[in-house]
Amino acid sequence: MSITSQPDRVIIFDTTLRDGEQSPGATLNVEEKLAIAHQLALLGVDVIEAGFAVASPGDFQAVKTIAEQVGIPGGPIICSLARAIRQDIHAAAEALKGAARPRIHTMISTSDIHLKYQLKKSRSEVLAIASEMVAYAKSFVDDVEFSPMDASRTEPEFLYEVLEAAIAAGATTINIPDTVGYCTPKEIGTLIQGIREHVPNIDGVILSIHTQNDLGLATANALAAIEYGVRQVECTINGIGERAGNAALEEIVMALQVRKPFFNPYFGRPVDADTPLTNIKTQEIYKTSSLVSQLTGMLIQPNKAIVGANAFAHESGIHQDGIIKHRQTYEIMEAAAIGLPENRIVLGKHSGRNAFRTRLKELGFELNEADLNKAFNRFKDVADKKKEISDWDLEAIVRDETQIQVESGFQIEHVQVICGDCTCPTATITIVTPDGKILTDASVGTGPVDAVYQAINRLVQIPNQLIEFSVQSVTGGIDALGTVTVRLKHQERIFSGQASDTDIVVAAAYAHINALNRLYRYLQTEKSEFHEINSAVVSG
Ligand code: KIV
Repeated sequence: MSITSQPDRVIIFDTTLRDGEQSPGATLNVEEKLAIAHQLALLGVDVIEAGFAVASPGDFQAVKTIAEQVGIPGGPIICSLARAIRQDIHAAAEALKGAARPRIHTMISTSDIHLKYQLKKSRSEVLAIASEMVAYAKSFVDDVEFSPMDASRTEPEFLYEVLEAAIAAGATTINIPDTVGYCTPKEIGTLIQGIREHVPNIDGVILSIHTQNDLGLATANALAAIEYGVRQVECTINGIGERAGNAALEEIVMALQVRKPFFNPYFGRPVDADTPLTNIKTQEIYKTSSLVSQLTGMLIQPNKAIVGANAFAHESGIHQDGIIKHRQTYEIMEAAAIGLPENRIVLGKHSGRNAFRTRLKELGFELNEADLNKAFNRFKDVADKKKEISDWDLEAIVRDETQIQVESGFQIEHVQVICGDCTCPTATITIVTPDGKILTDASVGTGPVDAVYQAINRLVQIPNQLIEFSVQSVTGGIDALGTVTVRLKHQERIFSGQASDTDIVVAAAYAHINALNRLYRYLQTEKSEFHEINSAVVSG
């Protein structure tokens, strides 16, 4: 394939479920990964990196389930990461068996600093391993991606040599990682240009870029790479990922959309060509971003480009004046382009099930009967307390009621709190345990939330430490729903939970129990994996 027969658009390789999940505390279980993968498929990503199959039985199961249920014919390519080690590649191949279009992504470090201190291998050893492991991956699947880790700090001549060998061994995509987020856009351009000039067989493969955000340059670097001929970008929803994260999918896609006339010539198109430069359905961006934030518990900063709460808000008088006179004076894209619902007041306590269902459908939520019933009952409760229900409220209700419930987890029956400036904050909580027991306990605390958490912890009896607590208002107004997000730590793992209510102490209780249920579920899975491994050892 010559460079002119490369795709005339950018391939979006989403690594939210692999690199994104490496964000501290963003641990997802299999059901949650599957829900995100389905949404990524709706969003239209080309490749889903579903995980790192060899990392744990949970990771293996997630890649396998996504391969079988999302990697269907006509669906995205499903990929698993694998170090350039036989055991990793074998696990990836096994997990990917159910995918219509499987891809193995294998990687090995190539920079001298990694070779000397981490791999403790010579350049010639790494060269041989890269070529041998790409060939091994190729023995399982046609589609093999190779990444020379820390490529941007690798001595260029050695990098060219490794890439040439990997392509000769069968790699179909060559990905260039700026692993430590060190490069500037100009340097990325020079790196890509060097590769295209010095790797003789590079035109036969898709060239890809993976940029980390340590200096806040991930998106700029990915866009610079595109100008130099890169045709696949690795990115994550909301830019989550290891340390400061990755290039944000929504930023890359909207930059290519809004600045199409700037990018078109790099694809050999006329400046004013209208065909999109990616296959992403941009109207699904907001929904995908909210889902990832909810399930990972990683809040989006208000000033985050594209999906932050303030991204389309105009505060200054001068800006508001301009917007009223002509939107484009201060707005380069419309909120509707990313599927951001308007904060329209649509429903109230007299609205019926049909109006509720219809509005949810208009907002893009297709619920099954059971979820619809749960959401409708909750809507009626909220509408009793809050006169007007906006689209944003509806979204919070649906998020709460349809979140993946931990089967047979703990459930809250009652929350009662006494607090004030001349009383000792006291919470009385009733829960139902996984085995159906109804338990009640009370606790005092420094404030109402502390009292609630202490009472719940006494009932649940799973050691944990609350490390983050935040409340966000869903809409303006004194009767607004508040969304509480918590993150708690158990040993070295972090679990998050989220819930919304007009009473933020009640929301806090539900958010805490949601996080505890994820921890509980994790402990259950760990126990059964331990038994599985043990019985395999005994019977083996
Ligand atoms: O940052 C990195 O180098 C990676 C590679 C595996 C692509 O995540």
